Amino acid sequence: MSQSVTLLATLSLADSYSWPEFNEAATRLGAVAVTMQGSGVGMVEQLDHLAATGVERVYLVPVNLAEPLPTSWLGRVARWWVAHRPEAQLEVWYQTKAVLGLPTELPSQQGARRLQAKDSLTSPDWEQVPPVRRHVLVCRGPRCSAKGAAALSAKLGAELYRRDLLDTGVLVTQTGCMYPCNQAPVVVIQPDMEWLGPVGEDDVAALADRIEAACQEGVPASSRGVSQATD
Ligand code: FES
Repeated sequence: MSQSVTLLATLSLADSYSWPEFNEAATRLGAVAVTMQGSGVGMVEQLDHLAATGVERVYLVPVNLAEPLPTSWLGRVARWWVAHRPEAQLEVWYQTKAVLGLPTELPSQQGARRLQAKDSLTSPDWEQVPPVRRHVLVCRGPRCSAKGAAALSAKLGAELYRRDLLDTGVLVTQTGCMYPCNQAPVVVIQPDMEWLGPVGEDDVAALADRIEAACQEGVPASSRGVSQATD
């Protein structure tokens, strides 16, 4: 393993749906792809792996595939990693200038700064529940994954994003096995307790219509807030 590695990181769930293409583009450039959420290899796991294999320095670069988005929380998570791995010899250098679109060349390291330890995984901006009215669970258990759940999840996420519903009207979460595997791939719409399966890629438009209609009703989750587990 090289002593220095460029880590290209996507941040949004929507971008993670393009993980195969993103990973391929990064590999072609001799870099390593990570995602901060959704499909793909997570940044913290990859930093742990690189530290364990003797890499000395990482250049961390934010990538926005679809549209420019704030990227500062990428540095926050990386500083949190530095704070929680005091034994690691790996230096993390952060390039704040984000790459827009699939990277076609290795980003410049000019202007990168070394991240210092900081326990920075909380922020006033991350206090509230989003105003979503529905929570859609897409099963990524072994049977559902074998029958196309990854492609289904990617297409559904992209369609909801296109409709400006993702994270505003509906939260989409991938889960492990939810048990009715014979109906794979399985999707659940909450809080309606609506279980659907098998759901194929061809069903995405109809499913998105159904979710969009459901999002016209109900109480936004933000009105309830987060309770203590012991409340
Ligand atoms: S693997 Fe999806 S319900 Fe079991």
